[in-house]
Amino acid sequence: MTHVRTHARQRPIQVVAHRGASEDAPEHTLAAYRKAIEDGADALECDVRLTADGHLVCVHDRRVNRTSNGRGAVSALELADLAALDFGAGRTRAFWRGRDEEPDWQVRPEDPEDTSVLTLERLLELVADAGRRVELAIETKHPTRWAGQVEERLLELLKRFGLHAPASPEASQVRVMSFSARSLHRVHAASPTLPTVYLTQFLTPRMRDGRLPAGAGIAGPSLRVVRGRPDCVERLQRTGHQVHVWTVNEPEDVDLCIGLGVDAIITNRPGAVLRRLGR
Ligand code: G3P
Ligand code: CA
Repeated sequence: MTHVRTHARQRPIQVVAHRGASEDAPEHTLAAYRKAIEDGADALECDVRLTADGHLVCVHDRRVNRTSNGRGAVSALELADLAALDFGAGRTRAFWRGRDEEPDWQVRPEDPEDTSVLTLERLLELVADAGRRVELAIETKHPTRWAGQVEERLLELLKRFGLHAPASPEASQVRVMSFSARSLHRVHAASPTLPTVYLTQFLTPRMRDGRLPAGAGIAGPSLRVVRGRPDCVERLQRTGHQVHVWTVNEPEDVDLCIGLGVDAIITNRPGAVLRRLGR
């Protein structure tokens, strides 16, 4: 059965660069985010973790082994330790393609800062200097381990940039995403107008009925969920929730998301998705 959207879209589909333009440059680096902005991405996705000395850095894995020339857990390293590593040295592109080979990046970083560890603060500066509105979708990693510290630091930092308490969720330039409902609940309790995205790899019975956990405003199902239950998109939207789908890279999957009228496509290939959308 083919599922297509039956009610009119309010806004264009947002294109969100997953870890930056992470097929063209090493993920979570300035190089990848600059490329995503150049490509025209509407928003940038990043994962954040706390270092041993309390800085929020943009690193996906618990350890730095895959994405840098170093070893060890982010939570056990200080920012100065991470700053000594090269995050352009990882196997990231090959990882996405499921092959164990040296990456062949389209973007060749010239400045060491382009591939050094990226703090969330530096990413916020990049967004502030973008010259156009670029949104930020920040995913909290391991929020249970740190018992509220990730969210606390995140909100402190957003406050410094004047982004912590938007007039409304619709007006917000930033949203917080998590697989942890508890993390989103903390953010929502501290800043009720900051949009929150509940990420899931399976469809809970509650979501099947179009409902999300308390504190979550937007649904973030994986592509696999949407492929298996495409009707969930309209169900969630009819109960007032936007639907942001990850990680959508192949043309046929982009077409599926367009046909279903999802609200945001989170992709490693923002340029290609924008072209597919005719933008
Ligand atoms: O954007 C959501 C997506 O990033 C969640 O999965 O593992 O890539 O952080 P992961
Ligand atoms: Ca993520």
